[in-house]
Amino acid sequence: MVTQRKVIAVDGLAGSGKTSIAKAVAARLGFAHLNTGLLYRSVAWLILKYGINPEVEAGIGDLLRAHTIELRLDPQRGGRAIVDGHDVTDQLQKPEVSQATSQAAQFRTVREALHATQRNAFPGNNLVAEGRDMGTVIFPDAELKLFIEVNEQVRIERRLKQLGLSIPADEAGQARLKEQIRMEIIERDRRDESRSLSPTLAAADAVRIDNSLDPLEKVVGQICSIWGTRQASKF
Ligand code: DC
Repeated sequence: MVTQRKVIAVDGLAGSGKTSIAKAVAARLGFAHLNTGLLYRSVAWLILKYGINPEVEAGIGDLLRAHTIELRLDPQRGGRAIVDGHDVTDQLQKPEVSQATSQAAQFRTVREALHATQRNAFPGNNLVAEGRDMGTVIFPDAELKLFIEVNEQVRIERRLKQLGLSIPADEAGQARLKEQIRMEIIERDRRDESRSLSPTLAAADAVRIDNSLDPLEKVVGQICSIWGTRQASKF
């Protein structure tokens, strides 16, 4: 008998807090945390390393055929991105990598090349799979699908913290900076939600989770209780 592993799909826009949520839910349930952004970031890392034009799909296709990208589960540190046998995880959060990732993630060649790697990652483990199209494309059969949402104000504050910018002392300066960040978020969302392949959208059967106000433990508790109820209702 083939035992199908259990999958919780977690999707959401940038800055929604889905990584913290996915990691904590996985730890609580004893599932592996599959962060698919690491795979897209690895593609961008290769693009930058070999000086490939991130806007030319054919060149990226050649690059992907010549190199290997995989995920390995480290018992202490979780999922690691392995490119041509080397662990590159710690190099993947640089701004230039993020920038090239969002360009490369639009291409069919890239999305198709990573499809099976995501589907087959961490064999034998139940998964909390996090990304942009987990519930819609990669794990349409997931037992639970979540779409994480957060209000604009919270995302602006989080992005400010992430960028580590010094906050102007005067109110007008603060307002200008916040407006700048707000425009950046709107533009990024527009790109993510409107791309023709795998746009970031909630699956029709996804549970929407508001991550604006409650502390992480509360949100994680809420999700684990939804999971528990779903599992119990199967018997
Ligand atoms: O989640 P993240 O910030 O690590 O994602 C980095 C980029 O990869 C972002 O531009 C969206 C893209 N991505 C994607 O298109 N599909 C995924 N499943 C995961 C990430």
